[in-house]
Amino acid sequence: MNIVKHGLAVLGLIAAPAFAAGQVSINIDAAKPGPIINKNVYGQFAEHLGTGVYEGMPAIPNTRGWRNDVVGALKALHVPLVRWPGGCFADTYHWRDGIGPQDQRPANVHGSTVDAINAVGTHEFFDLIDMLGADAYVNGNVGTGSVQEMSDWIEYMTADGGSPLARLRAKNGREKPFKVAFFGIGNELWGCGGNMKPEYYANLYSNYEAFLRAPAQSRPQMIASGGSGLETAWTQVLSKELKGRTTGISVHQYTVPTGSWDVKGKDLGFKEGEWISTLANTLKMDQLIKDHVVVLDKNDPEKKIGLMIDEWGTWYDEAGARSALFQQNSLRDALVAALNFNIFHEHAERVPMTTIAQMVNVLQAMILTDEEKMVLTPTYYTFQMYVPFQDAKSLPLAIKDNTSYTLGATTIPGVSASAARAKDGQMYLALVNTDPSKAVDVAVDVAGTKLKGAAGKVLTSAKMDAHNTFQYPQAIKPAAFSARAAGGKLSLKVPAKAVLVVALEE
Ligand code: AHR
Repeated sequence: MNIVKHGLAVLGLIAAPAFAAGQVSINIDAAKPGPIINKNVYGQFAEHLGTGVYEGMPAIPNTRGWRNDVVGALKALHVPLVRWPGGCFADTYHWRDGIGPQDQRPANVHGSTVDAINAVGTHEFFDLIDMLGADAYVNGNVGTGSVQEMSDWIEYMTADGGSPLARLRAKNGREKPFKVAFFGIGNELWGCGGNMKPEYYANLYSNYEAFLRAPAQSRPQMIASGGSGLETAWTQVLSKELKGRTTGISVHQYTVPTGSWDVKGKDLGFKEGEWISTLANTLKMDQLIKDHVVVLDKNDPEKKIGLMIDEWGTWYDEAGARSALFQQNSLRDALVAALNFNIFHEHAERVPMTTIAQMVNVLQAMILTDEEKMVLTPTYYTFQMYVPFQDAKSLPLAIKDNTSYTLGATTIPGVSASAARAKDGQMYLALVNTDPSKAVDVAVDVAGTKLKGAAGKVLTSAKMDAHNTFQYPQAIKPAAFSARAAGGKLSLKVPAKAVLVVALEE
């Protein structure tokens, strides 16, 4: 039997015999808050923004090209951070092609994709960032760029005063420097970024980083591009070689239902076997973080280097040719997002930032668009329900008598949970029931507190692949949920295949 051990560990369980039915107990210790869950854990990745958000079509109401409907919906997620322009695209992107009058910009070629107008350049990206009230995570080009080109881009964005590039920025309409919160030096250097070895990239990083000059008060936090998945070789080399010169090492981890990149699995119409394999594969995020943290703790005991999971989410076989990497998004994706959030919260100390791939129309998107139509996905709703966890204080919790969910040779924990004290002072609890058929009863106890009740939202549906379409955009959305406590203790019935987030009434 393939027990997903790391999932059990995340939930604070000892590998005890699983209960098929009965009550799961959650004990929260509100008196001993853990680290802050950095709001940047809820970041977004937006590669090649030509599709979906930036349309500039007169028929679609927009503000300087940015769709008002999409921007409005994203605002409700309090998007803290957006990574742009890639991904693999970053290592073919030349920033000078994306400034100045749009009708005079050269095309941008990325593999077989040609962005004929290079419409979203530096100024347009920061326009979106301003509209969202988010921070910028700009990714530079190592693969086909140069130290000089990257150094110039940093100067163009951050220099104040009379530098030639600050003057060029002003000529292009922006007097004040842009605020670049994070700057990534290349992307996936082991692959699309140049097929390098970590030692070679560590030297290149040092060379690039030495010339990325910005005024001290506005110097971006520099991110080194690390490895992929559970393999820690890149983290090992980079955390040793780049100490004091990097704020974070990135790692990418996608959830592929079959575990095979050749036939990944379908976005819709899948069987229960791919429900459980997707959730089991996504729970590997916990082991991934633990393995990388062991390396970081050895090489960086001062905890100055964060693990930045700047690409994560589901990746299915492409669903038609709407746009590159387009896939539908179902209730299964909502659970994938919630399970990952619960894992990220557990590792809040070492994981200060993640950016899901990707924001609109690509991979595990928040929003899908088709010309003037827009739908919010189940993943969107998970992000929305988890907003209170941004910058909240994590609270330790223990789960007793967890259920397990088994299909064939795979078993995963039935319930995943996370608790935090939010900035609004309220305590929040997030629960996921991974079983697609059985509801689960959960008893919640907060040490030293008499709970009065709970109120929040639940996201579930009768079908595992419930999703919203342009024709039926409201097929799945969260419903109100509330429960009363008795004797200071709370009993919640979490429906099958559900994400639930409640504020606990003390
Ligand atoms: O998110 C899609 C692609 O996946 C990114 O461009 C790349 O970094 C990764 O391989």
